[in-house]
Amino acid sequence: MSTNDEPDGELRGWYPDVTTDRFTLRPYQDDDAPEVLAIHSLLEVVRWLDNPPFTLLQTLDEARAKIDGYHRAESENPLCAFRAIVARDTGRVVGTVMVSRAIRLDGTDLGEYQLGWHLHPDAQGRGYASAAARLIAHQGVTAGHEELLIGMYPDNEPSAAVAAKLGAEDLGIGPDLWYGGDGHNFVLRPEHLAHVETERLVLRRFTRHDLDVLADLWSRPEVARWSGPRRPRAREEVREGLANHPGRAGTHPSTAVLAIVPKGEERPVGIALLVPLPSSSGIDRDDIEIGWHLFPEAQGRGYATEAARALVERAAAGRIREVLAVTDPANEAWQAVCQRLGMTDLGIRDDWYNSSLRAFRLATS
Ligand SMILES: CC(C)(COP(=O)(O)OP(=O)(O)OC[C@H]1O[C@@H](n2cnc3c(N)ncnc32)[C@H](O)[C@@H]1OP(=O)(O)O)[C@@H](O)C(=O)NCCC(=O)NCCS
Repeated sequence: MSTNDEPDGELRGWYPDVTTDRFTLRPYQDDDAPEVLAIHSLLEVVRWLDNPPFTLLQTLDEARAKIDGYHRAESENPLCAFRAIVARDTGRVVGTVMVSRAIRLDGTDLGEYQLGWHLHPDAQGRGYASAAARLIAHQGVTAGHEELLIGMYPDNEPSAAVAAKLGAEDLGIGPDLWYGGDGHNFVLRPEHLAHVETERLVLRRFTRHDLDVLADLWSRPEVARWSGPRRPRAREEVREGLANHPGRAGTHPSTAVLAIVPKGEERPVGIALLVPLPSSSGIDRDDIEIGWHLFPEAQGRGYATEAARALVERAAAGRIREVLAVTDPANEAWQAVCQRLGMTDLGIRDDWYNSSLRAFRLATS
């Protein structure tokens, strides 16, 4: 269970804005009230969110009060987040995803958190809910949640489908925690979002508790010189990068930024990435990148190759047909891994990261 006994500052900033090709997740603003009213004045939405008798919003003031309630809950507890899903094609708020306190029907709060979602009916059936839920769930895990509950009326099949698509464990129909009567309950744990085992390694999601390790990794000039700004990073910069892991991984079910942890150990020895590869300006490509970074003392043991092989399998299982690796032309250790994986050398290319990089490609199946 997440802890609240840490300094407040440590708990803040784990739900940064994220923009995908289809939508942005951002905090609610006061001027979102008309869209909140449009959603919460509809019985066909509210009947799935609440206990009867259902209260439909009728005025903009009521919608503003709802937004105030979101802001209050977030400022009282930074492990919670209520995020507007803003469609990029229209710029309009189409729904909400949230990590919130799970308050039981009898008013007790057992320190549990729930994951929730709702959309305006016009926006349903287009994959917004599952994609946005995946992002906020990853943010919640990064924030340190070890368990997120998902509850719904037993006949809410679209919602159950979203929970199943996230990989949440289906607890079946049983006494509902919040509404009374029976509910269909799921629980989502970090390993449902990503957990890969190889002979010697576990690849798992990073959480805020890994900040010290990552700050150590990115303070090492010999690691930092090959990636991003190519210089050692300050702790605050690393913290921001960690909070942005979910956004970096995007919405594909297989993509992730993962900690490489030797079996039987706790401390990560490196990072393995399966993430969208940013095209250079003016180039429109849709590639997926694999990558790896190891602490110097963990190099030379074949960990990078072992982790990368597992990522290639994960990509194949997720129907990603090919993966690319791009690197500084001078990074020979990295290129040796590409060669060991059997990747094809594409030479020096300018298609990604607005840089000239040596690229390698591998068909996954
Ligand atoms: C729950 C809700 C957010 C889902 O929205 P959505 O737009 O259907 O979500 P997505 O498109 O991301 O994914 C839904 C999945 O459910 C499937 N689905 C939709 N209706 C279904 C049904 N009646 N039976 C079974 N599966 C269904 C979809 O096919 C989709 O799966 P796919 O992508 O594999 O095809 C939306 O229905 C909603 O806002 N409902 C009202 C509020 C609500 O119920 N909130 C949850 C409270 S617990």
